[in-house]
Amino acid sequence: MKRFAHRGVMAHRPENTMSAFRLALETGADGIETDVHMTKDGVLVLIHDETLERTTDGRGQVSLYTYDELKQFNAGVRHEVEEHIPTLEELFDLVKEESVILNLEVKTDVLRYEGIESRIIESIESAGIDASRILFSSFNHETIHRLKQMRPDIEAAILLAQPLYDISGYLRFVGADSVHPHIDRITDEEVRSLQGRGIPVRPYTIKTQHQLERCMALQVDAVFVNDIEWANETT
Ligand code: G3P
Ligand code: MG
Repeated sequence: MKRFAHRGVMAHRPENTMSAFRLALETGADGIETDVHMTKDGVLVLIHDETLERTTDGRGQVSLYTYDELKQFNAGVRHEVEEHIPTLEELFDLVKEESVILNLEVKTDVLRYEGIESRIIESIESAGIDASRILFSSFNHETIHRLKQMRPDIEAAILLAQPLYDISGYLRFVGADSVHPHIDRITDEEVRSLQGRGIPVRPYTIKTQHQLERCMALQVDAVFVNDIEWANETT
């Protein structure tokens, strides 16, 4: 079972910052999950929310700033350290020589970010990152459908926050490969049925020993955790 660092190692570093991604590499994460938004001038940036208030000292909507304006804000403010909002390109630079998988969660579930899918594909291609190291996901399944049309060879997962009737039928409809369900919104029977069809399941976000043990017993493909060392020590 692989361990993905959720927003980097957000238990110990400001989420979605270069230091959180570096700690993921240092603690042996198999994968790094991060959230992708787009600035007013089309730069792909890594931040969880559509707005700046919760994680930075900025105010307002990410999409209303150019990247030059956005990089003035401190994304480490809650940890009392200095961190900028990283670009996707910076993350690619950091992991270029590593083998870690990158789960790019495309945050089009609130704002549409016109053209974000093709920009992401261009960015992967210009960084020269191997397709096998990229895993797309989104709560917006139209985004997943578009990404799969553009690059059928790159794995793409639907994120599910709620239970869904006939998950595998729905996956075929969307053209997706795998499922990232909320850990408390999927049954053992559903996980086993998906696995029986060869569909990878990667629940999010595993925070308790009980959840981790359940995922181990089910032999899910991977889990998203806030602290890689905790996951390694607990299992
Ligand atoms: O991709 C797993 C998880 O990150 C989805 O939820 O809100 O933490 O982005 P969220
Ligand atoms: Mg996410």
